Formats: sequence, C-alpha cells, structure tokens
Amino acid sequence: MISIRKLLGGRWSSAARLDDKTVIITGANTGIGKETARDLAHRGARLILACRDAEKAEAAKKEITEDSGNQNVVVMKLDLSDTKSIRDFAELINKEEKQINILINNAGIMMCPYSKTADGFEMQFGVNHLGHFLLTYLLMDLIKRSAPARIVNVSSTAHTWGAINLDDINSEKSYDAKKAYGQSKLANILYTRSLAKRLEGTGVTAYSLHPGVVQSELWRHLSTPLQLAVKVFSPFTKTAVQGAQTSIYCAVEPELEKESGGYYSDCAPASCARSARDDEMAQNLWDLSCQMLGIAWD
Ligand SMILES: NC(=O)c1ccc[n+]([C@@H]2O[C@H](COP(=O)([O-])OP(=O)(O)OC[C@H]3O[C@@H](n4cnc5c(N)ncnc54)[C@H](OP(=O)(O)O)[C@@H]3O)[C@@H](O)[C@H]2O)c1
Repeated sequence: MISIRKLLGGRWSSAARLDDKTVIITGANTGIGKETARDLAHRGARLILACRDAEKAEAAKKEITEDSGNQNVVVMKLDLSDTKSIRDFAELINKEEKQINILINNAGIMMCPYSKTADGFEMQFGVNHLGHFLLTYLLMDLIKRSAPARIVNVSSTAHTWGAINLDDINSEKSYDAKKAYGQSKLANILYTRSLAKRLEGTGVTAYSLHPGVVQSELWRHLSTPLQLAVKVFSPFTKTAVQGAQTSIYCAVEPELEKESGGYYSDCAPASCARSARDDEMAQNLWDLSCQMLGIAWD
C-alpha cells in the first residue's frame, strides 16, 4: 500500500526558505491547505490561516506551531461564501500587514447540494472561483508592492467535468453538482491565465494546479456509498501531505519565478483541457466575474 502511494508522489525536496515572507492560505484548517501551511511554516514564513471556522483553525494553528516551532502563525476569519466577510478580511490585511508575498487560494467545496452564497451565487462557483477572485482583487495592490510575489490557485483535473455556462452561471435553470464543481475548477485555470497576462512586468506571477486525488474532507458531500468507494480506493490516492506538494512547489520553487499562468500537477507543468486554454472564454469569465461582484478590474 505504501509503495503505491510512493509511486503517486512523495515530498517535493527543496531546502528553500521563506524567512521574512508572508503567506496567506485559504482553507488552511484541514486537508491540503493545512499540510501546505505546515510545510511553509517549517520554511520560516509568517503564515496567515484564512479560515471560516475559528475553532478548527485554532486547532490547526496549534498543531502547525508545535510541529514547526514557528510562532509566527495567525488565524484570521474568512468565509468565502460571503463577500462581506471577504471585504472585512482584506481590509484588515491591508491595514495590518506590510506585505503579502504568497497568496494560496486553496479553499474549496465539492459537489454540495444546491445552495447559494450570501450574495446569491451558486455555492461552488461562488466559493471556489468568485470568492478567491474578489479576495485577490482586494489584496492586489499590497501583493504588487510585495513583489516578487506569487498567487497560487488550487484547481483540479475535474476542470474537464464542466464548461463555463455564461447563460446560467448560477445553475438556476438546472443544477448538476459534478458539472458545477467542474465549472468552478475550470474557472480557476482560466482566471489564472487572465491574471498572469495582467500581471506581466509587475514581479507578481500566478499558477494553477491539480493536487492529485487526495484523501481529505473534500468528499464530505458525496453519498455514503461513494464516500466508501473513495476509502476503498485510498491506496491509489494521495495523502494530504502528498497532495500539498504541488501547491508548495508553485509557491516556493525559484525556477518558477520566470513562469506565469501555467497549470501544474505532480510538481511539474501539466496539460489541461482545451477549454482551459480558451482565452476568449477567459476574458468573458473575467468580465462576468467583475460584473457579478460589482468591481472594475481591467
Ligand atoms: N481532495 C482532492 O482529491 C482534490 C482534488 C483536486 C482538487 N482539490 C482542491 O484542493 C483544494 C483543497 O481541498 P481539500 O481536498 O484539502 O478539501 P478539504 O479537506 O475539504 O478542505 C477544504 C478547505 O476549504 C475550506 N472552505 C470550504 N468552504 C469555505 C468557505 N466558504 N470559506 C472559507 N473556507 C472554506 C474548508 O473549511 P471547513 O473545514 O470549515 O469546511 C477547508 O478548510 C480545493 O480547492 C479542492 O477543490 C482537491
């Protein structure tokens, strides 16, 4: 069992340090986000765990602090399903932090029953894409002032499950939980491509990635038989530590400073679907996201 897991990828090996760097990781209280945070804490970064559940986040902070010896780990409240919470979080960051060198948009929700965010967006599109889009927009000036800086968007190979449905972006006419997840993960990649173009020459780079099929709480909305199937197939999936490696690679690998806008898997460039390379759709998605959020971001 262990050898199959090893084939799926071990730890990315690099001694790179992040002393004097500040990192925000969304959804850092469990799963891939927590393991990403743990690794970056060992590298000496100041870590901001941006989480919606304060109790779970404090428990993660305690674990990470004890494990790494890094006392510079803080918890801040962020609910990506509510633009007010995102704005409050960003306001505090912009007021209190002198730099943000790495933003890891990791939080995610998969195949939940149909529901809407506080602002009326379909939940998966709202949290996975729009929430992170708004967060990045609100932190952009600070991130640019902190350059060299990076933005890492955790997407998925599930981007192939869906399309960007411009006519029914909130799945109000019909809802397919799997397609809606696919739409949100496709949006992560298209958004990263658009962002990278807009950031050319600023010293800020952007990456999207697939972490692998990972044992985490992401499967919580699946039916019991499907959750059981995920457990049965666990030897063929990654642990959360393994699943965090490509996020860590995109956040840290010095060579990547010369790259921007790409999609990664297993700590290497990866190919994504044609729909994820559609620059016309990327522009349409950008415009629609701005319109839905009531922001002007050229
Ligand atoms: N696991 C996989 O196989 C897999 C595969 C491909 C891509 N991914 C992607 O990897 C990322 C991390 O997923 P994971 O596997 O680590 O899942 P996870 O264990 O379920 O962790 C998801 C994190 O996102 C947070 N979150 C969910 N909704 C939120 C909201 N409204 N506001 C703020 N935080 C919110 C969760 O907080 P709570 O604990 O409070 O719910 C949790 O911290 C996701 O973007 C996912 O799409 C995962």
